[in-house]
Amino acid sequence: MLRLKHQSMITWLTQTERDLPALAPAAWLSPPEQERLAALRVEKRRREWLLGRWTARRLIQSHLAEAGLACDLRDLQILAAPSGAPTISARRSELQAALDGWHLTISHSRGRALCALARTPAIGADIEQVAPRHPAFAGDYFTPAERAAVAATPPEQREMLITAIWSAKEAALKALRLGLSVDTRRVECRMAPPGGGAWATVTLSCDPILEAPPLRGWWRVSEGYVLTLAVGAA
Ligand SMILES: CC(C)(COP(=O)(O)OP(=O)(O)OC[C@H]1O[C@@H](n2cnc3c(N)ncnc32)[C@H](O)[C@@H]1OP(=O)(O)O)[C@@H](O)C(=O)NCCC(=O)NCCS
Repeated sequence: MLRLKHQSMITWLTQTERDLPALAPAAWLSPPEQERLAALRVEKRRREWLLGRWTARRLIQSHLAEAGLACDLRDLQILAAPSGAPTISARRSELQAALDGWHLTISHSRGRALCALARTPAIGADIEQVAPRHPAFAGDYFTPAERAAVAATPPEQREMLITAIWSAKEAALKALRLGLSVDTRRVECRMAPPGGGAWATVTLSCDPILEAPPLRGWWRVSEGYVLTLAVGAA
């Protein structure tokens, strides 16, 4: 786990399917979460949803431990707001008090999840496996400046850059609680060169029509996955 010290502090964690406990989900999910899981019919979706809940719990548990609070995984509940964004609640009042004002973001991709916590609702995270995309992808979803950045990149690095730009858009749109309900070209991402295992910056510019607060962003590559974070700069 890493703490990013910027204007807003972000705590993040990744987990893989191998980290999931052998325990039955009922041993660590709240009853409303168990109902939600039961309603998910597609096995891939069940697995990613579970991994997201698991990663979020481990992140929140570590966060509370830093504040000197022990927390059982079943003390926590992570449900979706109407927007789809995750919300945290705790069934013990001292845990709830410690979590008040903290906001969670969840992402999953091919057996991995990334979760992040920050003291602002304008927090978004995304994880994407670096993989080839249809040749028309950048033309359909990227701004002219993003397409120019891709064209100027050596061919062997293009897949990574396309994945990173897409991921940064998703992180920003999650921070705005919009998701993919808006045209992805309304957020323009300028990726600083990869930081060799450290976070590199992403400059995020939103179309004024979104009435978005200023956002700051970061990206990194780890084991074939791109990770991105976006947070309200205020
Ligand atoms: C949010 C979205 C960008 C996620 O992208 P993705 O690559 O599919 O999936 P990711 O794994 O990165 O992220 C999924 C997580 O984002 C979170 N999320 C969903 N909607 C969100 C929103 N509006 N704002 C912030 N976070 C959101 C959820 O925690 C979700 O995981 P969970 O459902 O397992 O809890 C995209 O799925 C989306 O916009 N979905 C909504 C599309 C829509 O409007 N659908 C209409 C109803 S069918």
